Amino acid sequence: MRELKDCVAAEQPRIHAVLETLTGELPALVRPMAHHILFAGGKRLRPVLCVVFGRLCGLDHEDLLRLGASVEMLHAATLLHDDILDNADTRRGTPAAHTVFGAPQAVLAGDALLAKALLTVSALGDARLTGCISEAVMYTAAGEVAEIANVRNFGIGQEAYLEIITGKTAWMLRAACELGALRAGAHAAAVAAAVEFGLSLGIAFQIVDDVLDFAPSQQTGKPRGGDIREGKVTPPLLYYLNSLSPAERDTVHTALQQEALPESYVNHLCDAIEQGGHCDAALALSDAYLEKALASLHVFPAGREKEILQQMTHYVRARGH
Ligand code: IPE
Ligand code: IPE
Ligand code: MG
Ligand code: MG
Repeated sequence: MRELKDCVAAEQPRIHAVLETLTGELPALVRPMAHHILFAGGKRLRPVLCVVFGRLCGLDHEDLLRLGASVEMLHAATLLHDDILDNADTRRGTPAAHTVFGAPQAVLAGDALLAKALLTVSALGDARLTGCISEAVMYTAAGEVAEIANVRNFGIGQEAYLEIITGKTAWMLRAACELGALRAGAHAAAVAAAVEFGLSLGIAFQIVDDVLDFAPSQQTGKPRGGDIREGKVTPPLLYYLNSLSPAERDTVHTALQQEALPESYVNHLCDAIEQGGHCDAALALSDAYLEKALASLHVFPAGREKEILQQMTHYVRARGH
């Protein structure tokens, strides 16, 4: 993954510089919260995608960094909100913002960050770019609402699960790729390929994230078993439930209906799901989407940027946090 590593190493300081500038333009009361979430060591996957897609489509310009940083600010805003919705007390290995500043404050800081992201894109004066990021805001929120509507719905099928994660996660990765291609003035087929790559990578990314929910919190920086605790129905849990006899399944369903699950039960279930091979089965599902993402790149000529994106699909699969 040499090309991807070199690219991230080269782009991160530039992305950070733009994020520092944009954060400095926020109202003073919001700044500490924005700083807390934005500079705690995120992977910067979305801005890197935006910059690389712009270059793949023939443009190397400062605007790509501003667009990428805008998507990162939008991402940070959704994380501020998400940790409140998910009752998560750690993020990126540090206390979640709402535990430090208070939940109402974190909600409003998220709103301010989101608005700053939209302002930054709209300042570039291209309605297609503003439309693209605004749509991402809308569908990400709708995906989170759909997820909440399905908490403890163990009858949910794979299709409904995929629809939820397409909204809450994949849409933003799609926007990162699409913004880069649009700003570069790419032709319709290239923009469509950017959309397809971002969506498929995003779906795979969230499936892997749902598998990482079973990994130790020291590894991920997020609470282990958070999804089980919150009644989120993800592929490893679905596959585990399907592997049980009807009587066993009833017992687990009943146990999971409790609002406050005992920690010992959360750990027991996480171990059973992991050791039963259900995380591996979920990874096989993510592989299908990574294949789709790879296939969508065929319209682009061979070269460094294409290689970086190919390596990105391998990275998403192998990532440990
Ligand atoms: C976390 O995203 C939220 C999901 C969509 C699963 P990342 O894993 O990209 O978070 P950071 O930015 O690297 O912390
Ligand atoms: C990520 O959802 C999607 C958004 C933040 C909108 P998760 O709740 O699965 O992400 P993590 O695991 O908290 O990072
Ligand atoms: Mg969460
Ligand atoms: Mg969530």
